[in-house]
Amino acid sequence: MCGIVGYVGKRDAMPVLIEGLHRLEYRGYDSAGLAVISRGRLQITKTAGRVQDLRDKLAAKAGASSAKTGASVAKPTIGIGHTRWATHGEPNEINAHPHTDTANRIAVVHNGIIENAEFLRDQLQASGVHLASDTDTEALAHMIAAEFAADESATLEDAVIRTLRKVEGAYGLVVVDTKNPDQLVVARNGSPIVLGLGNSEMFVASDVSALVRYTKQVIYLEDGEVATIKATDYHTATVTAGGTESSGIKVPTTVDADADDYELGQFSDYMRKEIHEQPDAIRRALRGRLEERFATARLGGINLDARELRNIRCVKFLGCGSAYYAGQMGAALVEELARIPADAEPASEFRYRSPVVDPDTLYVAVSQSGETIDTLMGVQELKRKGGQVIGAVNVVGSAIGRECGHGIFLHAGPEVAVASTKALTNMAVNFALLALLLGRVRDLSSANGERIVNGLRNLPAQVSAILAEDEGISTIANRYADADHMFFIGRVRGWPVAREGAQKLKEISYVHAEAYQAGELKHGPLALISPEMPSLVIIPSDELVAKNMSTVEQIKARGGPVIVVTSFAELPDTIADVVIRVPRAEPELEPILLNIPLQLFAYHAAAKLGRDIDKPRNLAKSVTVE
Ligand code: AGP
Repeated sequence: MCGIVGYVGKRDAMPVLIEGLHRLEYRGYDSAGLAVISRGRLQITKTAGRVQDLRDKLAAKAGASSAKTGASVAKPTIGIGHTRWATHGEPNEINAHPHTDTANRIAVVHNGIIENAEFLRDQLQASGVHLASDTDTEALAHMIAAEFAADESATLEDAVIRTLRKVEGAYGLVVVDTKNPDQLVVARNGSPIVLGLGNSEMFVASDVSALVRYTKQVIYLEDGEVATIKATDYHTATVTAGGTESSGIKVPTTVDADADDYELGQFSDYMRKEIHEQPDAIRRALRGRLEERFATARLGGINLDARELRNIRCVKFLGCGSAYYAGQMGAALVEELARIPADAEPASEFRYRSPVVDPDTLYVAVSQSGETIDTLMGVQELKRKGGQVIGAVNVVGSAIGRECGHGIFLHAGPEVAVASTKALTNMAVNFALLALLLGRVRDLSSANGERIVNGLRNLPAQVSAILAEDEGISTIANRYADADHMFFIGRVRGWPVAREGAQKLKEISYVHAEAYQAGELKHGPLALISPEMPSLVIIPSDELVAKNMSTVEQIKARGGPVIVVTSFAELPDTIADVVIRVPRAEPELEPILLNIPLQLFAYHAAAKLGRDIDKPRNLAKSVTVE
């Protein structure tokens, strides 16, 4: 969702800010803007369109100003930028960030939601302040200015802290002040902020993707921290009830990603690139984590010894959307390999239903971004009730990873496309490792452990073999892309695969897709089967093949077109209109492979329909607000 960038240093701030905003576009946004300090004054440019529109506007402004003065103007070296996902007020230019006070002294960009915004806005209006926008953020700019009016000797950091003491809600924000043109003040409470340390220059962003081009040395702010950043130094402090305390020396983290990881290379969009990166992503997830000698897994990050692992009576996965479906795959793996009860629940439900928290249950918070608000709140609820929770996140330093403290790093590499592909695959692979570990401290034999270890080792090559069929799957997807509705049918191991496949198709192609358990068809949905309703049926190579074949027959008997995705080589081509085949794997691991053709199917259907695949309508990469 919203994105923040900031810069102070010696370069021209504009291109740095624009590049940063461009890198944040994948998060989803509806308007963009930036503010720089030039010759002691704020220069604000905003658009209700894309970052490219902002770039065009800036170029037009620069052209007009040099035509007027004939002279080249000194480049601004400090500024802030923002991509906005509308919460308070329409997505128009006025509501786009940055927001300023009446005198145009202060400019603020902000992610998150100020919950007492209405009260604060009323107070400001009662004191005679004219509010130009409908946003919660504008109130902050006026309030910071008011702190200076009340105390001229206040530093910018003082004014920001005093303002934030009156604010309820979540924020990650950056402030510039024309009277303090050498510094940015940033603050974090519930919405990520990362500082990038350069050589006589500093960067700020809500996401490292905006920084890696310039520096790999970063500092993640904690909730409740503020920082003052100048070109050559910075300090951080924690806001306490009575004042502030220095946060002490922070050791920078080196970002484990290259600028190239965010480039498209030979691909036309990120989703396809990320689908094709899966063999490497799986190899990364497995590196150093398979313990051949004892046929088990090594997951140091979870910080649980054998005795503690044995004491776990139940495992519960919490996540949203695809992360929830990956959790379902994880629950099946844990039950099958460790024979302990496991299930998955959408974090958005869990956090609101006053869950009974069992101290002997291991809760796993699953999230690619590590920022999803529902999952984060679920973790906080768990911790409050004394639950034992670990994270399974892809973004190092993310809110969920930090809140959990311990966990499993997914190692999928940066995922830019809104539709999750390689992160979901790596979630399932990591859950297979967790299940193997839990199984081997219980009754899973070493022979079975070895079978899973070998099965995991084979996955990258098997995924590559499926990806080699990309073109064939594209032909199939083109054939069905015009359907208005589709069913995705699965049973037991195939069920989370069907759910994820339906989710992928609907989110990027906008084709209505519904997932059903095979056995549930005859309890209602069978009424919808017709020649206009294609069904995609998942058939793993397990003891349920015959049952799944009879599901296919039931659909065909009612005139429904059928696509089968199977690992069961003996299944004849005549079983369905189309059969997509994947290699046979260890049965417990097959969902990981069966899901890959569904990613390609959704991708090609969306491409055929001319959709904006990486930025589907109404969706954002990280859902950081309710
Ligand atoms: C995946 O394709 C979706 N865009 C979405 O369901 C996503 O998985 C969900 O929002 C959770 O995101 P997270 O993994 O970053 O927490």
